[in-house]
Amino acid sequence: MTVQQAFEQHVMHTYARFSVVFERGEGCYLENSDGRRYLDFVAGIATCVLGHAHPVLSAAIAEQARTLIHVSNLYYTPQQARLAEWLTAHSAADRVFFCNSGAEANEGAIKLARKYGRTVLGIAEPQIISAHQSFHGRTMATVTATGQPKYQKHFHPLVPGFVHVPYNDFEALRAQVTDATAAVLIEPIQGEGGVVPGDVECFQKLRRFCSERRILLMLDEVQTGMGRTGRLFGYEHLGIEPDVFTLAKALGGGVPIGALCAKEAFAIFEPGDHASTFGGNPLACAAALAVCQTLEAELLVDNARERGAQLAAGLGRLVERFKPLVRTARGRGLMQGLVLSAPRAAEIVRQAMEQGLLVFSAGPEVIRFVPPLIVSAIEVDEALAILEGVFAQLPVTVTA
Ligand SMILES: Cc1ncc(COP(=O)(O)O)c(C=O)c1O
Repeated sequence: MTVQQAFEQHVMHTYARFSVVFERGEGCYLENSDGRRYLDFVAGIATCVLGHAHPVLSAAIAEQARTLIHVSNLYYTPQQARLAEWLTAHSAADRVFFCNSGAEANEGAIKLARKYGRTVLGIAEPQIISAHQSFHGRTMATVTATGQPKYQKHFHPLVPGFVHVPYNDFEALRAQVTDATAAVLIEPIQGEGGVVPGDVECFQKLRRFCSERRILLMLDEVQTGMGRTGRLFGYEHLGIEPDVFTLAKALGGGVPIGALCAKEAFAIFEPGDHASTFGGNPLACAAALAVCQTLEAELLVDNARERGAQLAAGLGRLVERFKPLVRTARGRGLMQGLVLSAPRAAEIVRQAMEQGLLVFSAGPEVIRFVPPLIVSAIEVDEALAILEGVFAQLPVTVTA
């Protein structure tokens, strides 16, 4: 039985997978089972920040695997201590809770917001506001927070206590605030929703308003965090600090780990409130520490900013050349989207793959670029050249 046949027969059909089997990777390239190389601008969906098989990350994982993989959170471990120190030293947070994924980190944030609402604000049924077109995960609470009905359609009844408002519209948000509002959960750049950067003025108003009303401002940095946007955290572009933020994806460079990060005043969980068997285990924390140290040692946040500017400029040239099919380019750092005027992202993603470039869509009209933060100028040029070739071969008529 081939790999794809085994998937067909034995793996649940939750993903529409591309017909390719990947067996190894190095740097920004992946290699399929036939030895063909692909330039990887997906990076495990904004996860493999150090690319593939980075020697520092691989060595840290191997060394930790030889020493101690897992003990319960009944005990202390040095790796979790060091990682919490690093994250709090480099961010607005004072305390961290470790878990295993973005959804789990957001689930923790939702629980924290409810406890805050009930015990600090005295709200019987606390409500959380999130945005239309947002994405916060696939668990019941996070899929409810997610402002996209397509992810919810088979899963009603949803979790009560969520309200959705338009993104980047402070007045619309304010209009939905009531005495029951405990928190706002929002992405600094919407990723799955189409690579939509947060508006600085809107977020600054939101920050002031939340402080005045004692509403928790919780930022979902699962996709934007750890250097992706050319700053360590997405909120740095907005000139604000959140009360709470969540991380996952890039934090472990591909090893599953998530984090719920909070300022001291809002880190109100007590023993028994929340837990995770694997959360913050030595293996995952050793990997995440290697990621953090490598981001610093190799100046990868600067690289994300510089290569992001190069990528954005190149995408801007594609907009000029391939109007009206390509409408605009937007994003921050190495989180960029190319916006089409027709729902042709899937077709273009497929053709780019045939030409050896991995990109993916964020909705039917946006092509998304989230390469490893180690990406070089030559690799950015290579990706742009492949993309230009793909667009040049497309029929010019827009099939709206
Ligand atoms: C902003 C954001 N939040 C949460 C998640 C969910 O993360 P995970 O798939 O690790 O549960 C994602 C995943 O794409 C995301 O982009």
